[in-house]
Amino acid sequence: MKIFKKTDGESNVINGLPRHIAIILDGNGRWAQKKGMPRTAGHSYGAENFRTISKYCKEIGIKYLTVYAFSTENWKRPKAEVDAIMNLLEKYLLEAIEKMENDRIKLKFLGDMSVLSPKLQKMISEVEEISSRYDGVQANICLNYGSRDEIVKAAIRYAEDYKATGKALNEEEFSRYLYSCDIPDPDLVIRPSGEYRLSNFLMWQSAYSELYFTEVLWPDFTPEELDKALESYSHRKRLYGGLRK
Ligand code: IPE
Ligand code: IPE
Ligand code: MG
Repeated sequence: MKIFKKTDGESNVINGLPRHIAIILDGNGRWAQKKGMPRTAGHSYGAENFRTISKYCKEIGIKYLTVYAFSTENWKRPKAEVDAIMNLLEKYLLEAIEKMENDRIKLKFLGDMSVLSPKLQKMISEVEEISSRYDGVQANICLNYGSRDEIVKAAIRYAEDYKATGKALNEEEFSRYLYSCDIPDPDLVIRPSGEYRLSNFLMWQSAYSELYFTEVLWPDFTPEELDKALESYSHRKRLYGGLRK
């Protein structure tokens, strides 16, 4: 049994908090445009909100938080927006290095980092290394991530191993080739911003995840909004193909 804060500020005891929450960080652009700001300002507020929500997850005892920050398809956007997101990432990583001692959040990055600038790649390795000693919440940031890309890359790596060892393949074995190899499947996948799709996010891992959609845009997704998702999750019956007891 864990405790999380209710919107009225009281505490509430809830059975069955998810061990792993995954969130599609969507709606930054629309949030900024509604306020008459450039889309990039939305990404900046979105990054700050990720910090708020990861701290909240740590506070309430969530073990894993995985967020979708940049997809393999997001490169299609205007160069100016992509550049602004990469600059923001650099700023975020610098701050993460500075604040890590205080936050004590373990950060991991999932996706194909090889196309990022050498500077960003180096900072990512540094952040992962320094934070690997923290054992609170593990926050996984999906960057240049796409499920199809992840699955294809896993298949290629398995094929190489197969040539060398001939080892048999099953679901569990295949999972070990994914970026998420040492992370349990998400219990709850949240998509803010009123879009009802996965957009190439954790398609293998979310086979039996509970889904939660809200119209709220990511920068407005406060801990109280997360509480609503957790409240909804606490009433779900997960059957995995079996029968209701
Ligand atoms: C999500 O917000 C962040 C990224 C995809 C990088 P969007 O930029 O997609 O925001 P909307 O959906 O246009 O509002
Ligand atoms: C999904 O959002 C990707 C991230 C939040 C990083 P998008 O805004 O890219 O998804 P679509 O294009 O609406 O499906
Ligand atoms: Mg979007």
